[in-house]
Amino acid sequence: MKTCNEIVAQVRHRAARASGSRELMEDLVRLLATERPYYSWTGFYLMEGADTLVLGPYHGKPSPHTRIPLNQGICGAAASTGESLIVDDVRADPRYLACSLESRSEIVVPIKRDGKVLGEIDIDSDRPAAFSDDDRRLLEEIAAIVAARL
Ligand code: SME
Repeated sequence: MKTCNEIVAQVRHRAARASGSRELMEDLVRLLATERPYYSWTGFYLMEGADTLVLGPYHGKPSPHTRIPLNQGICGAAASTGESLIVDDVRADPRYLACSLESRSEIVVPIKRDGKVLGEIDIDSDRPAAFSDDDRRLLEEIAAIVAARL
C-alpha cells in the first residue's frame, strides 16, 4: 500500500497536469479507489450557494443523495462546521443519510479556501471504523490541493 506522502506526491503531479477541476476530481476518485481498497464509495460534493451540497465526480454505486442541504447528513455537518468528521459506525449516527446498505463507516473532509467551504470529499467504507488519522491527513492534504484548483 502506498504511503500518504506517496499518494499526495502523485496527486500534486496530476493536479499540475489536469486541464480543469472536474477532470482532476474524476482522476482523484479513481486514484483513491485504487490506492485505498477499503474506500468503498469516494466522491466530491461541491457547494451550490450558501446551503446546498451537490454531488460531483464519484467512484462507486450511484448515490440517491445528489443534493444535500447543509442541515442534513454527515456531509452537511462537516460542511457546516468546516471540520473533518470520522464516523466509526454510521448505523449508530442519527445524522447518517444512507448511500448503500453495506456502508459501515464514513469520513468527510471539507475543501476550504481562505476559511470558506467550497465542497468536500466524502468516503464510505463497508468496514466498520475503517478510517484513521492517516486517512484524515491524506484527505486533508488532497482537499487543499483541490481547493487551489476550484
Ligand atoms: N452518507 C452521507 C450521504 C452521502 S452518501 O454516503 C454518498 C451523509 O450522511 O451525509
